[in-house]
Amino acid sequence: MAKRALEHVRRMRGGAQAHLLRCDDGAYYVTKFQNNPQHIRILANEMLCAGLAQALGLPVARAEVVEVEANLVEGTSELRLQRGGKWEKCLPGFHFGSRFPGSPAQTLVYDLLPDERLGDVENLKDFAGMLLFDQWSCNTNGRQVIFVAHAPPRRGYRVLMIDQGFCLNAGEWSFPDSPLRGLYHRHRVYGDVRGWESFEPWLTRLEGLAPAVLDRAAASLPPEWYDADTGALDRLLEQLDRRRRRLRELISAAKNSSRQPFPNWR
Ligand SMILES: Nc1ncnc2c1ncn2[C@@H]1O[C@H](COP(=O)(O)OP(=O)(O)OP(=O)(O)O)[C@@H](O)[C@H]1O
Ligand SMILES: [Mg+2]
Repeated sequence: MAKRALEHVRRMRGGAQAHLLRCDDGAYYVTKFQNNPQHIRILANEMLCAGLAQALGLPVARAEVVEVEANLVEGTSELRLQRGGKWEKCLPGFHFGSRFPGSPAQTLVYDLLPDERLGDVENLKDFAGMLLFDQWSCNTNGRQVIFVAHAPPRRGYRVLMIDQGFCLNAGEWSFPDSPLRGLYHRHRVYGDVRGWESFEPWLTRLEGLAPAVLDRAAASLPPEWYDADTGALDRLLEQLDRRRRRLRELISAAKNSSRQPFPNWR
C-alpha cells in the first residue's frame, strides 16, 4: 500500500530533483516525482530494481510508492521542479520513494567515504553483488550508494544501494552492454574479489531466479509509471530473464577491461 506524504522536509540534490518527505508510517522517503526532468520510467526502474535487488539479498534502500495529495503541493512552495528552464509544480499522485534509513535528524548518512574509512564498512563485500546486479540490469550510471553510520556507541557503517533510475538504460529500456557498466568509482571496494566465489551467493541466486520473482516485482509498479504499456514491460522482463545466462560473460568483460577493477582475482 502506498505511503501518504504528510510533510515536506527538504529538496535533495541530483538530476531527478527528488524531495525528502515525511510519510504517514513515520518514515522519511527520498521521493522522485512522475514529472521529474529525467524520465517517468526512472520511477519504474527504481521500484522494479529495488524489488529484484532485495529478492537477491542485496542491501538496497527500501522502495515504496508515495502518494502526494494536491493540497500538500498547493500548501508547500518548495514542491517545485525545474524542467526545460521553467519551474513547475510537482504533480499530485503516486511517486517513487526510497526510504531514508532512520530519521534525518539522528541518522548520519554519507554519499561518499574516503578510501581509508572503507575498511569500516561492515558489508563491503556486497559491492561485488551490486556489480553483478548492475551488469545484469545494465545500469548506465555508475553505482551509487549511501553509507549509513551505526548509532553510537557502535562504530562503522553499512552500505545501501540507491539510485536504480538508470538501470535498464533509463527511459530506453534497452541493454547496451559495456565492461565498465555499474562499476563503483572507488575500486578499492572490490579489493576482496578473488574469483567467482566473491560473487556468491548472488550469482547462484540470479542464475536460478524463478520467473515469478520478476513478475512479482513488476506487479508492484503503478501502471502510469510505464504508460500502462504492458507489452513493453513484458519484453523488458523477458530480456532480463534471458540475460541471466550471460552473467559470467558480463563479469569476465569487466574483469578483463582496461580499468582492471579486480587486481586480486587469482
Ligand atoms: N534512501 C535514501 N536515504 C538517504 N538519502 C538518500 C536516499 N536516496 C537518495 N538519497 C540522497 O539523495 C540524493 C539524490 O538521490 P539519487 O541519486 O537517487 O537522485 P538523482 O537525482 O539520480 O541524483 P544524481 O543525479 O546526483 O545521481 C543522493 O545523492 C543521496 O544523498
Ligand atoms: Mg543519483
